[in-house]
Parts: sequence; structure tokens; C-alpha cells
Amino acid sequence: SVKKMDAILRPKLFDFHGVSMTKFFTENWENIQNFQARPDDILIATYPKAGTTWVSNILDLLYFGQREKPIPIYERVPFLEIFHSAMGSGVDLADKLPTSPRLIKTHLPVQFVPKSFWEQKSRIVYVARNAKDNVVSYFHFDRMNKIEPEPGDWSSYLQRFKQGEMVFGSWYDHVSNWWKKKQTYSNLHYMFFEDMVEDTGREIDKLCSFLGLTPSVEEKTRIVGEVHFDKMKKDDMANYSTVPVLNFKISPFMRKGKVGDWKNHFTVAQNEEFDEDYKTKMKDPTLQFRSKI
Ligand code: A3P
Repeated sequence: SVKKMDAILRPKLFDFHGVSMTKFFTENWENIQNFQARPDDILIATYPKAGTTWVSNILDLLYFGQREKPIPIYERVPFLEIFHSAMGSGVDLADKLPTSPRLIKTHLPVQFVPKSFWEQKSRIVYVARNAKDNVVSYFHFDRMNKIEPEPGDWSSYLQRFKQGEMVFGSWYDHVSNWWKKKQTYSNLHYMFFEDMVEDTGREIDKLCSFLGLTPSVEEKTRIVGEVHFDKMKKDDMANYSTVPVLNFKISPFMRKGKVGDWKNHFTVAQNEEFDEDYKTKMKDPTLQFRSKI
């Protein structure tokens, strides 16, 4: 019924232990917090729209190569905290994963990560993307993804992004707190979307040295080709085209894949205000983003 559909679409944002969230990521909280990580698990952690799917596909290809039977990326790499009638339970999917290692995706701020990942010393790959492109990508995603709150118009969306009123909270806190974690947790590899766009092969090399993998030159070349934006856009197992809650007529999941698309969205005034506000929030000089390459 329409009423039932309403309840599973366009959820409300609320404060959850100081972070804006929706019920689709908090309703299974006990099971998420009690998730049993394994030492060989690899957690892919990101703020939404930072390149999660891209890195997930790279890791899946590095470990498992071409799959005999095609499996969509969201089944190969379960989304730990998701809990939704149309999308299933990420914890259940992860528990049932037959692979070793298991690749698991999360958008959780670092303080919400289940403690077993730290105890087991699982490896974690964090991907970060510059704030301006990140918010633009998130805006288009929220327009097309009916399990996200209504985005409203661009200028109000941008305002809310600065205030941290987005699902998974403040981008500024997310990228900064994960960056801080790197100082005390050595099994964390922190990467940047912009570096991947600039030189995907180089970033795969760094990823491999973190993971202790030594793919052949041919293998690496093949993976670089496989994860090119144009290839992934056409790949139904990577482009989310099989997910019913997404409306691709509004915007594709594989939208542009560029650095600097924010210039087509920010007005001059919005950009100046954004930069001013950014300086007050991002005080750590060791964490630097590039919004053009
Ligand atoms: P845009 O909306 O700017 O195009 P996530 O997977 O974390 O949701 O991130 C999605 C963003 O990553 C989208 O950004 C998408 O186009 C981009 N992306 C996904 N795969 C990519 C690839 N192979 N190369 C470049 N960008 C990619």
C-alpha cells in the first residue's frame, strides 16, 4: 500500500548520538555493534559518495578476479549498517559471505565502527573526496535515491551539508576523525578520490603494498581497464542499475566521475562562503584535499 511504501522511502533525518542518521542505518544497531569481525576482513570505509563503489570493485577484482557468475557489487561487498525491507540486512549479508577475505563496506563515522574490527586488527581502507565534489555528488544521489531524505533545492542542501545535516553526519568530522585514527591504528590505509582519478594504477600499487598483494603487470593493467569510469558505468554488476529504490531517470549512479564538477554547481558567492566556513572547520594542516587536479 501507499502508506507502507511511505514508511520505507524518504526517511527523516534525526540526531543519533550526535550524528545525523536515518532509521535505515540505526534500526539494526545492536547487531551492527556486536558484529564479529575477522582478522582477514577488509573494511572499506567512506563518507557517502567518496568513491566507495570504485574502491570496492578494485578490491574485489584484486582478490577474486573475474567472477564466473555475475554478482552485483552490493552483494559482493555488503553494506554493514543497512537495514531495509528492499535492501536487506548488511550484517546478515556479511555474516553469510562465503569469501575470504570478506570485503565489507561502511559509511559509519569512526566512533561508530563495531569494536571487533579494532580488536581483530582488521585492515581498513578509507577513501576521502574533496568536500565540494562530495556534496555535489551527494546532492544528485539524494535526488535519485528514495531511501535518502528529500534533498530539497541545491542552496539549502549546501547549507545543510555545512551544518552536518546529512545522512552519516558532518563530512568535516568524518574525514578528520578517520584521519586522526590513522595515527594510532596502523592497519588503516587512507586514500583520496582525486589521486585515483589522477593515476588509478599508482593508487592500486599503493593499495597492493598495504594489503601485501603482488598482482602481475598484466593483471594490474586488466584491473585498471576494468575499473575505468566508462567501463563501470556500463557494468550492470557495478553501476547499481539493479537496485529498485534508485531512479536513474533523475540521475545515474555513475554520474560524472570527475574532479571539479562542483564548478558547475557552486555560485561565486556560495564558493566564497564555503571556503570561509571550511577554514573554521578544517584546522589540521596535515589533511589537505584537492578540489581540482
Ligand atoms: P559523481 O556523482 O561525482 O559522478 P560512492 O561509490 O561512494 O557512492 O561514490 C560515487 C561517486 O564515485 C560518483 O561520483 C561516481 O560517478 C564516482 N565513481 C564511481 N566509480 C568511478 C570510477 N570508476 N571512476 C571515477 N569515478 C567513479
